[in-house]
Amino acid sequence: PKVCVLMGGPSAEREVSLSTGRECAAALRDGGFTVVELDAQADLAARLVEIAPDVVFNALHGRWGEDGCVQGILEWLRIPYTHSGVLASALAMDKTRSKDVFRAAGLPVVESVLAPRDEVASRHVMPPPYVVKPNNEGSSVGVYLVHDAANSPPQLDAAMPETVMVEAFAPGRELTTTVMGDRALTVTDILTDGWYDYDAKYKPGGSRHVVPADVPQVIFDACMEYAQRAHDALGCRGLSRTDFRWDAARGLDGLVLLETNTQPGMTPTSLSPEQAARAGISFPELCRWMIGDASC
Ligand code: DAL
Ligand code: MG
Repeated sequence: PKVCVLMGGPSAEREVSLSTGRECAAALRDGGFTVVELDAQADLAARLVEIAPDVVFNALHGRWGEDGCVQGILEWLRIPYTHSGVLASALAMDKTRSKDVFRAAGLPVVESVLAPRDEVASRHVMPPPYVVKPNNEGSSVGVYLVHDAANSPPQLDAAMPETVMVEAFAPGRELTTTVMGDRALTVTDILTDGWYDYDAKYKPGGSRHVVPADVPQVIFDACMEYAQRAHDALGCRGLSRTDFRWDAARGLDGLVLLETNTQPGMTPTSLSPEQAARAGISFPELCRWMIGDASC
């Protein structure tokens, strides 16, 4: 079968996506697929008609590629594609609306508000510590932490959206669980010197992953269960990865769900391929499974 790997694109996570795309394209090629790599630009629909792939492997991250836009084009063209469909992608990418879905499903989330960028830059819209994030970006692009009231509000420039999300800071350890369809794989504990920011995520050695996480069984089980419930509540398909914070001092009450990623990174430093490997699924097997799971 002919697989078109969509990668790059115009989002802030372009470089991450190129890395994900290259890894997946190489694995699929080794697995005997005919692979065409396509940088997703404005002529995307015309290029797809020309290439006429049997399946699209969506290796895009961030806006347009992870938020339902590309998924809509693929539905329209009737080309089966990997990962989540239009609605789940759009919901998961909108951090505020996905929290509404999680709350309705009885999952623990962190309180947050949406506020105008200018207001957030001029006063503390909630008592520090809090985090300011774009409502719809990934890879910690544009994330600011305000430690305490002595810090001034973050200086947000025009690169930030006009409306931003302000979220109460959830202290604790960074845990994550990948879901492959109806199977939660394992739990990883992410250890960093500071914040798990863009560099910690993608620089080799930027963070250390303990997998399976050395946490109490009740926490491990809760991550596995919550990740699957989050995946199902959003209506995700294929691969997803749900990120948590766990404040050990508060036991199970200290576990909160931060977000579900419908296009988890597949770069050499990414978490999902490592979790799959731990579950006995090699990178090429994971990519092959995703192709088999594709639909439209
Ligand atoms: N947004 C990045 C790609 C991730 O969640 O892995
Ligand atoms: Mg993310």
